Amino acid sequence: MALSPQWLDELRARLTLSSVVMRTTKLQRAGSEWKACCPFHDEKTPSFTVSDAKGFYHCFGCGAHGDVIRWMTDQRGLSFMDAVKELASEAGMEVPAPDPRAAQAAEQRAGLTDVMAAAQDFYRASLDTPGGARAREYLASRKFDAHTMERFGFGYAPGDRQALKAALKQFDEPMLIEAGLRIAVDDKAPYDRFRDRLTMPIHDPRGRVIGFAARILDADKKDAPKYINSPDTPLFDKGRTLFNLHRAGPASRKSGRLVVVEGQMDVVAMAAAGFEDAVAPMGTALTERQLELLWRLVDAPILCFDGDNAGQRAAMRAISRALPMLAPGKTMRIVRLPAGLDPDDLLKRQGVAAMEALLAEPGSLIDTLWEFEKAAGPLRTPEDKAGLKARLVEHCEAIQHPDIRSLYRRELLEKFSAFAYPPRPAREWKAGFAKPASPPLSPDSAGRLRKAASGANRDALASAVVAGLLRFPDQILVHAEPLGRFAAHDGKTGPALESLIEAAEMLEPGEETPISPPQGFAPPPDNNRFAFLDEGADPRAAREDLAEAVALLVERPALEAALAAATARFETDPEAAFAEQQRLLKRKLAFEKRLGLMASRRAAGAARSDSDSPSAPSGATDEDSE
Ligand code: UTP
Ligand code: MN
Repeated sequence: MALSPQWLDELRARLTLSSVVMRTTKLQRAGSEWKACCPFHDEKTPSFTVSDAKGFYHCFGCGAHGDVIRWMTDQRGLSFMDAVKELASEAGMEVPAPDPRAAQAAEQRAGLTDVMAAAQDFYRASLDTPGGARAREYLASRKFDAHTMERFGFGYAPGDRQALKAALKQFDEPMLIEAGLRIAVDDKAPYDRFRDRLTMPIHDPRGRVIGFAARILDADKKDAPKYINSPDTPLFDKGRTLFNLHRAGPASRKSGRLVVVEGQMDVVAMAAAGFEDAVAPMGTALTERQLELLWRLVDAPILCFDGDNAGQRAAMRAISRALPMLAPGKTMRIVRLPAGLDPDDLLKRQGVAAMEALLAEPGSLIDTLWEFEKAAGPLRTPEDKAGLKARLVEHCEAIQHPDIRSLYRRELLEKFSAFAYPPRPAREWKAGFAKPASPPLSPDSAGRLRKAASGANRDALASAVVAGLLRFPDQILVHAEPLGRFAAHDGKTGPALESLIEAAEMLEPGEETPISPPQGFAPPPDNNRFAFLDEGADPRAAREDLAEAVALLVERPALEAALAAATARFETDPEAAFAEQQRLLKRKLAFEKRLGLMASRRAAGAARSDSDSPSAPSGATDEDSE
């Protein structure tokens, strides 16, 4: 089986050494590292250290040393392959199938790396020959300093169709073609791909040359492309490569920032101005793979786009790619440059401070999305507005993560309502809607209430939620997403909830028209009511309680299903099933407690309104008269 070094690097990167070691060896924190009594030799004072940053453990006593794989072989006694398999399943990676050609391919890539390095030396040297004069002039015209030019490895590809071939005699033709440096069409003689162009090497994250970008020098050649990049080769995969990542990666660890600009020259201009943490894709829109690379380095890479329409569309393409991949804490920020300026232009005309200022205050992903869609067309008619709303909802649907999806939905619809229907002067609730005031509750009914609301009586909670939504119709769309999910699996209250959501979707946003109770819906009996149903309740607190009730309602079936699944697993994996069950039971307990609290809050509130005397009984919260 051939495991590539890249694959093993990925495996190590996905695992935290200390958490693997911790399973069998008790670790103590020591600054950013961990220490323990060495598991490889007998000792009383700890000389064994684990560094997650370096990915190594080391014992100063006996010299035991290794990475996470070595730990599994040396401490756990597994074979190398078994260690890799166990770690891979933990890291969620698939062990590559055995492939006799893989070893050959690895060897071939090693050969191609040598070809690319030799080509870079050749281009670099050609820049200093008389033939390279125009390339040198061009670089001078861009005003890059010598240090920058040296670091980025600018070179010159001579105009002669056989120049590279003649210089790289040690490599045979098929290799040069495989490396993407020569082009062979049919039976015609092969020729150099890059000719009479300024070259700049593209590196992999380890700093090896894997491709080139080549810029035209003769601005009059209107029909030739301005840039030519290497084609995809065994070394170079456009969609997985970010220009300058090998330098910007380490720089981003210091700055905590990573900036994505559109063009390679922009990266060079940024670096020349002191912004070392910039990368660029290869002349295409950002791919998922590139987003993953960015997110591995920082939580919120900053995208820097031109403020004109093309730039905004490019930003939206990147946003669309990112939406399905959003995860807790992982996002993207967007800087909108003044229209018509790329980072290079901006730095030249407005200077470093202007760029600093822009990078210091990037827009959030959701705001950029909102601004873009809002500006996408007129918003005069209901049809226009419905169109905007539909586009917003569609973006939300693309988000895979359920919490992030419903939060986006909520915030975007709030923005939409506020914008499309600015708030009118406050109005009273329509008279017909108010429910007759309920008689105050005696404090000892709290226990009854709690019992009714928990355990077997799930329908009580559901019907209380429906009644609450009828009371606060503006909250229906806010919770539409989790409620919809719940409704799909609940035969009893599901239809009522679905018809509520439907009715709410037909309301004009911001409109306060009451929604009539769904057919066949029986309001919850009075002893089953929650604080948010009380007439006197503060509307803001009531809305918050309602949100909590919705969360509980939706959480319960998921919790119960998970418990059932854990119980079912007892046969196959008792240890894991037990742990899982304990965890879930704990959650269930917390859940019931939250539910009880909500009910008793109401009881307490009722008790207070029952009597103005401060000595009114208030111990309702803690007793359960079962
Ligand atoms: P631009 O046309 O904005 O070029 O293309 P630029 O980056 O400002 O370059 P200079 O400053 O004129 O030298 C942006 C990016 O699109 C890709 C390149 O990656 C470029 O950096 N591109 C552009 C191509 O791949 N081919 C082209 O013909 C043009
Ligand atoms: Mn430019």
